[in-house]
Formats: sequence, C-alpha cells, structure tokens
Amino acid sequence: MKFDVNQIRKDFPVLAQKTRSGKNIVYFDNAATSQKPIKVIDATSDFYRNFNANIHRSAHELSERATMAYEEARNRVGKFFGAPENFCTIFTRGATESLNLVAQSWGSANIKRGDEILLSEMEHHANIVPWQMLAERAQAKILAAKIREDGSLDMDDLLSKVSGKTKIISITHASNVLGSINDINAISKIARSAGAAFSIDAAQSAPHLLDDISKVDCDFLSISAHKCYGPTGIGALIAKREILDSMPPYQGGGDMIENVSWQKTTFRPSPERFEAGTPNIAGAVGFAAAIDYLNSIDLHGAKEHEHKLLERMTAALDAIPKIKIFGKSKEKVSLASFFVDGVHPNDISVLLNASGIAIRTGHHCAEPLMCLLGVMGTCRASMAFYNTEEEVDFFAEKLEHAIKILA
Ligand SMILES: Cc1ncc(COP(=O)(O)O)c(C=O)c1O
Repeated sequence: MKFDVNQIRKDFPVLAQKTRSGKNIVYFDNAATSQKPIKVIDATSDFYRNFNANIHRSAHELSERATMAYEEARNRVGKFFGAPENFCTIFTRGATESLNLVAQSWGSANIKRGDEILLSEMEHHANIVPWQMLAERAQAKILAAKIREDGSLDMDDLLSKVSGKTKIISITHASNVLGSINDINAISKIARSAGAAFSIDAAQSAPHLLDDISKVDCDFLSISAHKCYGPTGIGALIAKREILDSMPPYQGGGDMIENVSWQKTTFRPSPERFEAGTPNIAGAVGFAAAIDYLNSIDLHGAKEHEHKLLERMTAALDAIPKIKIFGKSKEKVSLASFFVDGVHPNDISVLLNASGIAIRTGHHCAEPLMCLLGVMGTCRASMAFYNTEEEVDFFAEKLEHAIKILA
C-alpha cells in the first residue's frame, strides 16, 4: 500500500496519547529511541502470554516454540540487513554491546602495541569508549578522521590517516548529532586496500532504512532494535562467520559452551559462542516483528516522506534568527541539531515540552564532537516516518516563540 502518514500513525499507539496537560504529543526524539508499532507490542506480549520458555535447552513443546521463534528472528534480522550466507547474526543488548563485543573480542585478539584504530570525530561514545579501553590495554593508538564545516566526513583526511598500522576502521554510518550519512562503500574500499578490518555503527542509519547498509562489504555491522521500531534491550552484531569463529568468547556462561570440565572448556561456534546465558527472547521476537512491520509498509514512500520532513525542518530553522544548525551535509538523515545564541538548550526543551513537543538536548553521547563544535550541548529534533509536516510547522512556531521569551 502507498505510504500514507495518517494510516501509518494509527500503527503507533503512543502517538495518539496526550501529555499530562492534555497536549498532543509531538515526538521528535526518534534518534534516542523510536516508538513501537502494535505489531511489535503484540508479538512481545504474545511470547510471554502463549509460549514463554527458555530456549535451546529442553525437549518440551514450549521451549521448542520459543527456540524456533528466536532462531527465526535471527534469520529475519540478518536477511533484512542483507547479511550474506557467510555472515552470522548475533543478538546483543544493542549497538553499544555489539561495538563492545567487537572491541573486546576481536580487538584483544588482533590489536597489538603500536597498532592504530581509525574512528572519526563524529562518533557516539559507544564507538569511542570501547576502543579507548582496548587501546589502553593493548597500548594501541586511536586516530579520528576530521569532519568538514558542513558536518560531512573529510574523506581526504580519513585516507591520510590510513597506514600499514591501521588494523580497523570503525565508523558510524550516520551521525546522531549532525545527521551526516557517511559513504560506507568508499570507506570499505579504503579499509580493504589497507588490509584493515571494517566495522560500521549502523545505530542511526538502520532506522532510516538506508539501502547501502545491506550492500556494503564490511566485517562488523552494529544495530540497535529500539531505534528501528523494535523493543529496547536487543540489537544485533552482524559479522563475518570466519572472523567471529576466530575470535575469543566475550562472556562465559551457559549456552555458549560445547563442553565444560575443570581441565578445559570448549566453545560452540557463532552465534552461540557470543550469546552467553539466557538471551532476550521476547526482545528478539519483537525485533523480528519490527522487521515484519517494516517489510509490510511502503519503505520507499517512508524514506521520501522523511526527506520531505527534513527539508521542511531545515527551511523552518533557517528562517528563525539566532539559530545555528550543526550538520548540513548533502546526505543526511532526518534530524536537526541546533544551538540558539545565548540560550541554554535545556530551557528550550522545557518550553517545548509544555506544548507537548519532545526533543533531546545535551551532548548526545558525543562529547568530543561537542568540544569540536564549541558548545556544551545542542537541541536535537529527530524525526521518523510517522511524523508529519504539520508537526514540523507546529514545532517551528513554538520554537520561535520560546526563543522570543528566552533570548
Ligand atoms: C550513533 C550511535 N551509535 C551507538 C548508539 C548506541 O545505541 P544503543 O544505546 O542502542 O546501544 C547510539 C545511540 O544513541 C548512536 O546514536
């Protein structure tokens, strides 16, 4: 069915809620987490209501059903994000855990003293801190490719930082602050020609359904379900099986072992090797339901709609005096970070909240980027395909009003 935002909105119950003071909710905090369609809510409760059991361990029927649903979810997630045959989907708690898994497990086996890890100046803490922890242990060095004035990644600088010492390039596909979409195909080629591994943080690009995620040649792809209309506490690391099987386990416990004895423990191959303990089964089922939901809508229309929202939002912000937008690259996901001269971002957020508008303020887990931009924080309005042009206009009107009061 052709994309129709009014129909789509009916799938998301939170959007029909009112604030405590009776205002309609304008939810522009999608980069923090997205709302969930009924399909996802129902799938999660259906699991607990009808076939809750632990997986992989028992011969009884409920366990068999739960195991099938969990493994089927793994297939659906992998397929949706284009995992080829030789890739494996590991369920994690989210993009943060996926990136930690790569840094700790792959990193501890492959990063040695003097090696270099190449990131970028626009990374979220989730793609900085795990590498810093590793670099400190291994006595390796972290380099960060620069960003340009418009918020796009400076590919010349990235290239100039690649050398024989570069062991991995780990870059976000889309910035959670600037919105910039990075050319992961070009970065992949750079990584390949340097013989470096390539890891993509797709936490912010996956929700915007960017095609190249599923086509790019990478080693590790980190995804968070809750930003893609799925439940919280679940995500995926999609990675090359051969590389995964050469990596040491990240956590030890049940389900990830072949045999345990006091003398020696042996481990199962991927994905189980990296899924110690009882996983988030309901989360996986909900994640698969989110994928089914996305597969059931007009994705092309959804993307076009988001693009229109971004254009409208950018034009509206540009028309308001004293606003500086951070991130104006040509390729951008539908979010706008901005700073209002002389006004604390939190004050703006508080006034907007009084009108039912939810935005995010602060450093957005990107303190090094804030430092580079010369601000302690920004306001961020981040949109999803269920937002409307009327909401953008309402937001702009209330923002202008707030600035008049505060500035
Ligand atoms: C670019 C980026 N990477 C990683 C993460 C971490 O995702 P999660 O909190 O779902 O683990 C976020 C969350 O905001 C993000 O924006």
